[in-house]
Amino acid sequence: MTATAHGTPADVKDLALAPEGRRRTEWAERSMPVLRQIRERFTREQPLKGRRLSACLHVTTETANLAVTLKAGGADVALCASNPLSTQDDVAAHLVADHGIKVFAIKGEDHATYYDHIRAALAHRPDVTMDDGADLVGALHMVALNRLDDLPPPVRRWVETLSSADRAALVRGVVGSTEETTTGVIRLKAMAKDKVLQFPVIAVNDSETKHLFDNRYGTGQSTLDGILRATNLLIAGSTVVVAGYGWCGRGFAQRARGAGATVLVTEIDPLKALEAQMDGFRVVPMQEAAAIGDIFVTLTGNTHVVRLEHMRRMKDGAVIANSGHFNVELDLDGLAKEAQGPTRVREFVEEWRLGGKRIFVLAEGRLVNLAAAEGHPASVMDMSFANQALAAEYVVRQAASLGKDVHRIPAELDRDIARLKLSSMGVGIDTLTPEQQRYLASWDQGT
Ligand SMILES: NC(=O)c1ccc[n+]([C@@H]2O[C@H](COP(=O)([O-])OP(=O)(O)OC[C@H]3O[C@@H](n4cnc5c(N)ncnc54)[C@H](O)[C@@H]3O)[C@@H](O)[C@H]2O)c1
Repeated sequence: MTATAHGTPADVKDLALAPEGRRRTEWAERSMPVLRQIRERFTREQPLKGRRLSACLHVTTETANLAVTLKAGGADVALCASNPLSTQDDVAAHLVADHGIKVFAIKGEDHATYYDHIRAALAHRPDVTMDDGADLVGALHMVALNRLDDLPPPVRRWVETLSSADRAALVRGVVGSTEETTTGVIRLKAMAKDKVLQFPVIAVNDSETKHLFDNRYGTGQSTLDGILRATNLLIAGSTVVVAGYGWCGRGFAQRARGAGATVLVTEIDPLKALEAQMDGFRVVPMQEAAAIGDIFVTLTGNTHVVRLEHMRRMKDGAVIANSGHFNVELDLDGLAKEAQGPTRVREFVEEWRLGGKRIFVLAEGRLVNLAAAEGHPASVMDMSFANQALAAEYVVRQAASLGKDVHRIPAELDRDIARLKLSSMGVGIDTLTPEQQRYLASWDQGT
């Protein structure tokens, strides 16, 4: 545990990195005008006053701007990482040193430390939690259901020290939660279906101003950025295989094509596959793509999408990477059983020898855009985190009326974010005339 001069409990790499973290966070803030406006209102209105908020998010410059906004709204904020490789250590130091925010995150932390930091965020006794992948909510539900054996050891050991009344109070204390990503929302909806969800959750990912932009343009650009920073390969003239043509996959496929690659898409959904084909990509099964591709990227939210049977068919020097949420999309355990390695050949590149061929795995199969690059650009996170801030306010205000289910923020708030973003970009749009409004609401005017 690091402790600052103000006695803020925290565990970060080095508080001396704070000035660099502050400079970079301020740079990101320039591209986050919507969040800035929300921060100004939060400062005046204090909608989160007296609330303890625990967030488990990628600790980046954009998240720093969100954390400061939540604090400006009156919340006592604790922050841990939602991925062991995505923390920006200078940003973590800046939040602790300059804002007194309790940050528990170190880039490259091992499995035990990662979960000890989740424990620290839970020990903050949150009224509101904020997740990117449902790790905090998942742990709280294991406590609620008394499935302590399913908790990671650092969390389990702490929970075992609590009385049963205290465990119940920990879960009951949470009035609501928010979730950032597709994978987390899928899990929460499964919990709601099984009727085990203990409090309302706002699915930020389901907002139009989130997934249409963050998943598509954010993941599209930053995934390419991560691959380039990790490898410095020339994309033009290469064959890139994109697994999954959802919001993230289509964004990345577009960017890879824009950089001059021939792009193949693999899918399991006939509609998405058809869309990819008509968007001008070649759709093939992974087994076929395996022998053709130079660079493979998974963006599916599924497990073992690239398996040993595919890797055996790959060309010498094939590069494989994941930009979906968890590090399960590439079957790296299967690879480790049959291949020799890994040998680290660059900072985020590991070489494996498989039957005389070389396979290069980027960022240990974790989110390549966050591990090897800086994640999404601030301008797109402006909208995602505007959603997070408004979702936190909404869940606190509406807690009593929202059922224990997965909800979206109201469509009007979603549109307000789009309006604010457009106006910050200096883009004007038309408004319906009264005649047009009448026309669109009528049914009696025909040919
Ligand atoms: N890298 C990032 O920063 C980032 C950002 C946002 C979301 N995500 C994550 O990326 C993943 C995808 O998110 P999304 O919003 O695009 O989801 P989505 O549901 O829109 O798309 C996922 C697609 O993958 C397809 N798919 C599933 N299994 C497959 C398989 N075995 N082979 C080929 N295709 C398969 C599905 O049919 C679907 O079209 C999720 O895990 C999400 O949490 C990552």
